[in-house]
Amino acid sequence: MLELTGISKSFGGVHAVRDVSFLLEAGEVRGLIGPNGAGKSTLVNLISGLLTPSSGTMTLNGVPLTGQSAHQRARQGIARTFQNLRVFPSLSVEQNIDVARYAGGSAALPEAAIRQFGLLDKLTLPANALSYGDQRRLEIVRGLALRPRILMLDEPAAGMNEEETEALGHALKWVQQQADCALFVIDHDLKFIMTLCDRITVLDMGSVIAEGTPQEITTNPKVISAYLGDDVSAVA
Ligand SMILES: Nc1ncnc2c1ncn2[C@@H]1O[C@H](COP(=O)(O)OP(=O)(O)OP(=O)(O)O)[C@@H](O)[C@H]1O
Ligand SMILES: [Mg+2]
Repeated sequence: MLELTGISKSFGGVHAVRDVSFLLEAGEVRGLIGPNGAGKSTLVNLISGLLTPSSGTMTLNGVPLTGQSAHQRARQGIARTFQNLRVFPSLSVEQNIDVARYAGGSAALPEAAIRQFGLLDKLTLPANALSYGDQRRLEIVRGLALRPRILMLDEPAAGMNEEETEALGHALKWVQQQADCALFVIDHDLKFIMTLCDRITVLDMGSVIAEGTPQEITTNPKVISAYLGDDVSAVA
């Protein structure tokens, strides 16, 4: 569905993303992992259209994305959340969701999603009155209100405790089954990623160093030396 071919991005002398190619299938749950500064957020910014690649091409169902604005890509079903929260702080939870709902042109409030992410009894609260975890969940529901075909999540479990992370994993599995939407998930919580994802892509210094099932990734020597290190025992 989404195909990247030879995507690179440099900031001055920094090669943040180098010659990245991959294919994301419809409905797939793909993890994206790698050390700090590996280029994960930059890659999501390139796909969502916030950044322009230095070289390479991207297509969605065969249609080139190059030259399309972030807004146009959102309309085509590419939604994302941010590593740093970007909810509208003074708008209510419901208004935050409505903004996306109108942008995506969908009529019904995604009530099932609101319930699934535990926000049904918080709709009238201003977003800045929510806990950090609830604000992160609001961002996801807001993304879903666009009725996306691909939802990209940049560290959705960051700052969540183990119980919250597990609940988030369940809610995201529900999204994959109910919303007919592919997920592209960045996180440093390996247990979360390994449990949730069908396949995982590993970035290191801007390049894809491995791609495969959680099992293949945890046993890949390159991935162990670049990123997993001793953590591998905790997830294998
Ligand atoms: N707007 C920018 N201007 C200059 N350099 C940037 C910019 N955005 C990212 N970089 C650099 O590109 C590299 C990749 O950064 P990126 O944020 O994509 O990493 P990441 O894998 O998301 O890391 P983390 O796990 O810490 O979030 C880093 O060296 C970073 O400093
Ligand atoms: Mg990042």
